[in-house]
Order: sequence, then C-alpha cells, then structure tokens
Amino acid sequence: MQNSIEFDGHIFALNAGDSSYLMGLAKSGEGKKYLGHIGFVKRVSRPSGADALRTSEYSFISEGKPGDKCTFMDGFPFEYPAGGVGDFRENALEIENEAGCTAAELVYVSHRVYDGKEKLAGLPATFGDSDKVKTLEITLTDEVLSLDVILMYSIFEERNVVVRSAKLFNRGEHALYIRKALSACLEFDGRDKELITLPGSWARERYIDRQQLGFGRHIVGSKRGISSHQDHPFIAVLDRSTTQESGELVAMNFVYSGCFMACAEVTQHNMCRMLMGLGTDTFKWKLESGAEFTTPEVVVVRSSNGLDEMTHDLHELYRDHLIRSPYLHKKRPILINNWEATYFNFNEEKLLDIAWEAKKNGIEMLVMDDGWFGVRDSDNCSLGDWKVDRRKLPDGVDGLCRKVNEIGLEMGIWFEPEMISPDSDLYRAHPDWALQIPGREPQLCRTQFVLDITRKEVRDYVYESVATVLRSSNIRYVKWDMNRPLTDLGSSGLPADRQGEITHRYMLAVYELQERLLGEFPELLLENCTSGGGRFDPGMLFYSPQFWCSDDTDAMERLYIQEGTMLLYPLSTMGAHVSDCPNHIVGRTTDFEVRGMVALAGTFGYELDITRISDDDRAMISDQVAMYHKYNDLVREGDYYRIASARENGSYDCWEVVSKDKTEVLVTFIRQRAYAATRPPKIRLKALSPERTYTLDDGRSFYGDTLMNLGMVTDKLWGDNKGKLYHFTSNM
Ligand code: GLA
Repeated sequence: MQNSIEFDGHIFALNAGDSSYLMGLAKSGEGKKYLGHIGFVKRVSRPSGADALRTSEYSFISEGKPGDKCTFMDGFPFEYPAGGVGDFRENALEIENEAGCTAAELVYVSHRVYDGKEKLAGLPATFGDSDKVKTLEITLTDEVLSLDVILMYSIFEERNVVVRSAKLFNRGEHALYIRKALSACLEFDGRDKELITLPGSWARERYIDRQQLGFGRHIVGSKRGISSHQDHPFIAVLDRSTTQESGELVAMNFVYSGCFMACAEVTQHNMCRMLMGLGTDTFKWKLESGAEFTTPEVVVVRSSNGLDEMTHDLHELYRDHLIRSPYLHKKRPILINNWEATYFNFNEEKLLDIAWEAKKNGIEMLVMDDGWFGVRDSDNCSLGDWKVDRRKLPDGVDGLCRKVNEIGLEMGIWFEPEMISPDSDLYRAHPDWALQIPGREPQLCRTQFVLDITRKEVRDYVYESVATVLRSSNIRYVKWDMNRPLTDLGSSGLPADRQGEITHRYMLAVYELQERLLGEFPELLLENCTSGGGRFDPGMLFYSPQFWCSDDTDAMERLYIQEGTMLLYPLSTMGAHVSDCPNHIVGRTTDFEVRGMVALAGTFGYELDITRISDDDRAMISDQVAMYHKYNDLVREGDYYRIASARENGSYDCWEVVSKDKTEVLVTFIRQRAYAATRPPKIRLKALSPERTYTLDDGRSFYGDTLMNLGMVTDKLWGDNKGKLYHFTSNM
C-alpha cells in the first residue's frame, strides 16, 4: 500500500504500512484550533468523521458543562498536551516563564509536508532517502509565551511506524525555561489493556515484563544519566488478548541514551494516554530569546499481528533507517576478549599466547580489555590516564598490535573515555573536571567519578586520548565502555540557571564524541558497552552497529536477556560471547556447545582464556567458527521469530531466523529443564513458504505448511541446559 500524508482541512492522516496515524483539529468555544489525537490504528481508507475527536462527550468537572473551557481542557485528547491550563493528565510540555509561572496552551498555526527527513542537530535519529521517507511538520504556538512548537512526524516505506520529535522555538524577547519537553503522546481507549516493559538490573537487562494496566499512571524512566539497566526506554500497551502472533498493540522506543520517562496513564474516562521523552527529574533547560530546542526522537510502532509484527517493523526500521555503520551488513570479525580470561592481570606475553591459540582455532581478532593503561591493576585507579602501561606492554599498544597482526589477527581495544579515577594524574591536575556539586563530596562508584564532558576542554581531552591511540596503531575495533551512573549534577562550566541541563548536555557530548571518532576513523568497528547493556538503546545504535548485551555471559541467563533484546533490536546488534565455566557471574556450568549456540544469536566471539580451557572444549571452537561463517549471513540479515520462551514455559526456549527469500531457516532450540514422563516439545515454525519443501542438514524433509501448522517434534535431549540447531534449506 502507498504511503501518504493527507490533510482534508480537518483531519491529518499519515498512512504507513498497514497503519494510519490520525490527528484532527478541533475548534474551542473561543475559536482556537487545538490539535487532537484520533488514533494510531489499522489502515483506514477515508479518515473523516465529525466525531473523530469526540468533542461532544467530555464529562463535567465540578460545575462545568460541555463547552466550558475547563471541561474541554480536561478531556480533549491533545496531540501534544501542555501543563498549567487545565489538562490534569500527564502532559508533554511544561514551560516556565521569567515570572516563574508554568503554563502553555498550544494552538494550531500551519503545517508542511515534504519528502525525506531533516537531521536532528546533534542527536541520533532515523534517516532515509526522499523516495522512502515522508515528513509532516505541524506548527503550534503559544501566543502568551511567544513559543512555537513544531511537531515532526516521519513515515517509512511499509513500516507500521511513525517517528516523532518536537522542536521548540522561543520567538519572544525573554528567556523561557523548559521543565519538560517529551517527544510523543498518544491517546486511546484504555480498557482491558496490558503493559510490556523491559526492566532489569546490572547483568539482568531487559527482562520482558507483562502486567495488567490498571487505573492511574504507570511510569518507567531513568534518572541515572544513562538509559540504564534498570528501565529500558520502551513501553508497549497491548490488548489483553494480544499474543506473540496476533492482536493489537502500540509501543514506543526512544532514540536516546540518557534520562528518559515513559508513561501509560489510564484516566478518569478510561482512556489511556501514553507518552515518552526526556526524563524530567533531572531536566530544566533555559531557552533564550531566539533559541531552539529539539527533543530526541520516539519511534511509535503499532501492530495488528502481535509482538512478532512489532519486532519485525523495529528490526527493519533500525537496519534500514538508523544504524549507519559500514559493518551493518558485514560479517563481524570473530573476536576473543581477554576480560574474563585475565581481568587486569595480563601482559604482552599472555595476550600473544591467547592470540596464537585463537589464530589456530579460526578466531579473527584480539580485543584487549580494561587494564592496559596508567597503573591499572585493579578498578581503583588510572581512568583518564590513557597512556600505555609499559610494565605490561613494553612495546606499547602499537608494538602489541603489530605482533598480533603478525600472528594474523586484527586488534581491538577497550576505553572508558567518560570517566576519571580520583587516583589518576588527570584528576590530580584537574580535580574540577569531575562532575560535582560545590561543597559536596562527589559519590564514588566503582572508585571513579564522571568526567564533565559538557565542558569543551574536557571533551577535547577525551577525544584526543582515544584518537591518539587509534592514530598510532592499527586498531580496527573499539569497545567504548561506561561503568557508572551520573550523580552530583554540578558543572563548573555552566551558570546557575543552566545546571538543570547537565544530563542532556552530557548525552549530547557523548554523541558528539562518537560522531567525531567515526568521522576521523570511518572504518572503525565501534562496540558500545555500559557495564554490559546499560545504554543498549536505539540512540547508541546510530553510532555503533553492536552493543555488549550484558556482563552476564551465562548462556542460560542470556536466553532471557537476549529474548528481551531481540524483541526490539536486530540480532546483528547483540554482542554475545562464549565465556568460561563455571560462569563468573552465576557459577553455572553449561556445555561448551550450548554456550556457542546461544552466542551465535548475536555478534559471536569468545571471552575466556583459550590457553587454559579443556582440550575438548578447545576442539569445539573450530566447529563453532565454521557454524558462525555458515549461519551469520542468515542471522544478521534474516527475519527473527520467537517460537517459545523458557521464561514463560519454564522448560524450553526456541527462536527462528528465516531468510528474506524464505529459502533458509535456522532454528535454535534450548531445553533448559528435563522432565520425566514428558514428550519432547513440538515446535511450529513461522513465515515459511507453505508449498516449499524444507530439508534439514541431516536429510529429513518437510513441507513448509507442515512445519508451520503441524510442527516438528524436537529431539529428545538428555539432561538440563541442552540445545540443538535445526538448519533447513529449500530449493523449490
Ligand atoms: C564493564 C564491561 C566489561 C568489562 C569491564 C572492564 O563491566 O561491561 O565487559 O569491559 O567493564 O572493566
């Protein structure tokens, strides 16, 4: 179906994929035109109808009656609701004027439609050519504040997606203070709904949580300066009956990596207002006369075919319109990272031993993790001193890199550029470079402070520290880590009335640094990391095609973490390694073979001392390497489907990747728990060609419709935590 953006003088319709995003203009008693939200629904061909905004139905409040301004404000489904003038639901905008009053009332002024999409200055954002993307901009204004708000909407090819952000422009003479500026808001019937969020903790990121959506406000958000391990910038509201494959849902995902808030509020009229945008607790932004502020982008997605369709739309959107890396469609080098192998206790000889053994087994890159600089023998010191530790690497990073290259491996390196240890030359020289509030002892976390990269001189130092190492050696990959939340929000570089800008300025600084790095080193493979997956979000994927998914490398725990991650993000973005056992985080021992199957779902690599693992395990590496080469094109480029969730059934996990032309399928089946007197589960595959024959590598053949409708009986596996890969090909 053709995408289009239409306006009939009353209703706006953005038709994308199988969906219509509808807004309308309603005239208040005073003759002002307010912009209201009608719905984000399955495609409607002729969006019209006088009652679309239901303006005649609003209930009374106190002595009010329909038509009263107050009643109107209390019930109208504002497309971009503002606080302070009678809309008591969660709002998207709070503006304080110089007199200290907080109120805004936005009325429609004009709109424009164009092909393509403009960049959001300094922010990560979706993009696309003018033949694939269309944009609508609606200008609203508040005459009292002299504030214009430009709402921006873009649609993409056949995706059931609208991306939204807002631009605020102060055309008045006085400064304004933005206390809140969210990016997206929807309103719809809130009865019988459920909520999906992805909460977690360090080493337990993005567990899928589904709960009933009752009356009131349900808020998820991060105040940590990172999108966080604890709350993920994602929220979905579903019909109670919605399943993996069927039913309606609408969801939001934030293209941003710092503080955020998302809310689903079921209101007095059983409506649900759903919002997402910048976190408000740590935010207050001074908007000078003539200045502009752009909010980061929210991806709003809907589905009539359950979670599968949402996942598909997000994966395709992110692959086609968000991730820019030249590695996006390339097989990433199989790397071995020395973190769990040695922690801080390594030297050149040890790393070269690992490299030799890795090379023999087909591994392609050595990544030197934390501990190569300053005097960093533990996590107590040296962050900020990005000079090589010659005790460990006598010939420097450059020397090591040359030797690793001679062995036949590429070389990668770890940095944590945003941090400073109190025990560092940098801190001794510049104690004011750490974020801190005058008169307060700043909080230590992992014995480190956060650098105030909102200051240009600090940012330049950080950049040069990383770039100098990259300029002087043949480093092909950087793991950019960040290991603590932001506290002590004070910057000596900002005046008192701008201290509320720190968390957002911090994120803009991270984005600027990574943009600069990729500008100077366009071929660099950048993997972001935040104590594992604490900033694994669409914002960071704009800069790096992969993100270290979690510090929890236990294959069984990873099933849950990866399930939540794959719900939103392409498999090619998910940093996943085979690590040592007993696992360093939970102490569990899982077969080497099964650890490999779970890691194959992501970028794939190793995180263990290859010189010390058992011969049997080591002997399996070349098979796993071969499997990676055999399957990665499919895993990276194919369509992912969830077949079963061990989290839900307590027994087995299963996912499928099918190629776009439906000729190749890889099914990963992991049986977590064996039960007596039960039959092996039958799995039903998805999205195959019904009439094709699919042949397993062992020669067994099935019709597509048989695999989808009747299913396939899985092998009888002996013991807990076992797995099996089923690889099918089809020639006709
Ligand atoms: C974080 C990362 C780990 C490792 C350590 C090094 O925890 O997530 O993978 O790099 O830092 O200190």
